[in-house]
Amino acid sequence: MTDSTTRPSAGDEPLIVRTPDELRRALEGRADVGLVPTMGALHGGHRTLMRLAREKAETVVVSVFVNPLQFGPNEDLDRYPRDLPADVQVCAEEGVDVVFAPEVETMYPTEQMITVDAGPMGERLEGASRPGHFTGVLTVVTKLFQLVRPDLAVFGEKDAQQIALVRRMVLDLNLPVRIVGAPTLRDADGLASSSRNIYLDQAQRGSALALSRALRAGADAADDGADAVREAARGVLDEAAEATPPVELDYLALVDPATFEEASPHHRGAAVLAVAARVGATRLIDNVSVTL
Ligand code: PAF
Repeated sequence: MTDSTTRPSAGDEPLIVRTPDELRRALEGRADVGLVPTMGALHGGHRTLMRLAREKAETVVVSVFVNPLQFGPNEDLDRYPRDLPADVQVCAEEGVDVVFAPEVETMYPTEQMITVDAGPMGERLEGASRPGHFTGVLTVVTKLFQLVRPDLAVFGEKDAQQIALVRRMVLDLNLPVRIVGAPTLRDADGLASSSRNIYLDQAQRGSALALSRALRAGADAADDGADAVREAARGVLDEAAEATPPVELDYLALVDPATFEEASPHHRGAAVLAVAARVGATRLIDNVSVTL
């Protein structure tokens, strides 16, 4: 049951905590905790995650932490958008109870010597393009789970490989937390919500729409099998490679959702069609679930 004296309604300020001690005090006596891990720059997609957490848990914690461990040396760690007051405002509007926004030195007071190995699934697709990325993700997610001790945690399905790895980590390491996936939020033109969309100018945004168009074309060919799905999506991306500005494909893959291994031409059942591409300096990812 909701107790309106202890639980903020939409519009109330969440409690902002910056250290593990403050977090522990904020959560003392709170039951049924739902965690939404984020790197801030909160947008509509994050609101979907928070609403799902709000529906399923009594207490909602949002972590806002740009995790250096998951960025490669030539990636956008320094320019990644950071605006805590705006993030807190979004959390207030979504009725979040606690915002955990630690400093880098708080999360990593010493060199992180022990990390979580993402295994072979973590080396495919995103892991191949961004070596070490998933070790960084799983390590910080484990630390957040340890600090918040949530009953459930909500992740976006837009990062399909990330949520698959988190689910697998929870299974393989017996972590006592339920993982909930939130569907990808799209703008009316099909572009998947992402904190990195703000890097795109108008022309780049126009070109970027090829990603979701390619996924739709692929999904529409699902009845004709795995090769047809890949071909249909590839056709759209080949055209987009000639557009101005061009879409520079990193990968397009049709994979088994449990392992992220490439689906064979005879694959039947669930699969994920995933794409990553660069438009200008911005790297974008997207995916769609298909049934073959
Ligand atoms: O998806 C993200 O925003 C990040 O990878 C996460 C899960 C918050 C870990 O830093």
